[in-house]
Amino acid sequence: MDLSTLQIPVEKTNESRISGVDFENLPFGKVYTDHMFITTHRDGRWQDARIVPYGPVSLEPAAKVFHYGQTVFEGMKAYKDTQGKAWLFRPEDNQKRLNISASRLVIPEVPKELFMEGLNTLLKTDLEWIPKQAGSSLYIRPFIFASGLGFHASPADEYTFIIACSPSGSYFSGKVSVRIEETYARAANGGVGFAKAGGNYAGQFYPTQLAVSEGFQQVVWTDDNTHEYIEEAGAMNIFVRIGDTLLTSPTSDRILDGITRKSILQLAQSEGIPTEVRKIKVTELLGAASDGTLREMFGSGTAAVVSPISSFGYRGKKYDLPELSDSYASHFKKRITDIQYNRSEDPFGWRYPVN
Ligand code: PLP
Ligand code: COI
Repeated sequence: MDLSTLQIPVEKTNESRISGVDFENLPFGKVYTDHMFITTHRDGRWQDARIVPYGPVSLEPAAKVFHYGQTVFEGMKAYKDTQGKAWLFRPEDNQKRLNISASRLVIPEVPKELFMEGLNTLLKTDLEWIPKQAGSSLYIRPFIFASGLGFHASPADEYTFIIACSPSGSYFSGKVSVRIEETYARAANGGVGFAKAGGNYAGQFYPTQLAVSEGFQQVVWTDDNTHEYIEEAGAMNIFVRIGDTLLTSPTSDRILDGITRKSILQLAQSEGIPTEVRKIKVTELLGAASDGTLREMFGSGTAAVVSPISSFGYRGKKYDLPELSDSYASHFKKRITDIQYNRSEDPFGWRYPVN
């Protein structure tokens, strides 16, 4: 594929499904647009890049993704402003992170030009699917999987890269209550926790199911070694406000380097809000909860945006967080979404036009 003159052919659907979609009541990630981007890596290069109608992909049972979970993904969003213009948020960071994840799983990297051109062509084709409704956006899911065959436990000789999209509403419905986990671990040193590898999520389902059965929505993972430090949640990074200081754990082998996380840190620092990126002990949280200095906890992520945490559970006890009228969570949610939806200036150059 000559990337300098990349022209992605578009095979349009004969029958759009858009008239059947209730844009006023969008779930998260359950409705898919008319088209998808697809390309295959074979004989050492990505080839046959095209936009096709969204639909099933045919795979043989011996495809390695089924056996060894060799697959990585990204999560990003497109937003529409009041003029109907579409925007992305820091898409090049998702492209870079996809390749960081891919390399760790011996999946071939996707060149930036191919990723951006594929994404842009897809978004132009499905432009009508980007919701105009407040609070909704087009969730974009780029993913790569081993479509090559074999039961030998080794990297595949063929990969498929797809970008599929879903007009979506909120990820969480209602308040988010989390349980601090001490038994199970999401990631370990030297492992794949920093990658958006499919298996990281599959491994979380069982402990999360246990937490859900106890009335929580998500698990907050602690370090696998001591379980003394909070790390991140299932689908978001975690921030804590003690007094007026905003704290979050440093990224590591075990933690996803969230794009929303680093955007919040940059905004906070530019506003002179005291921030500390350091390890946070569970006992520090408990101490701050008991002396009243624990003012907020919130999660950050593309799907979750900024999600305030209403309470956390630890060793069978529930700790309620106060509801603040001037919370950092609502402040950063507004600042981030104002940039995303083109309602404010974009001081850091994060907004990226679809055209
Ligand atoms: N942590 C995990 C495990 C995630 O799946 C996500 C979602 O992408 C995040 C954190 C937040 O990352 P980002 O802000 O880049 O979406
Ligand atoms: C995202 O926020 O985009 C994610 O990837 C989280 C996902 C597991 C829904």
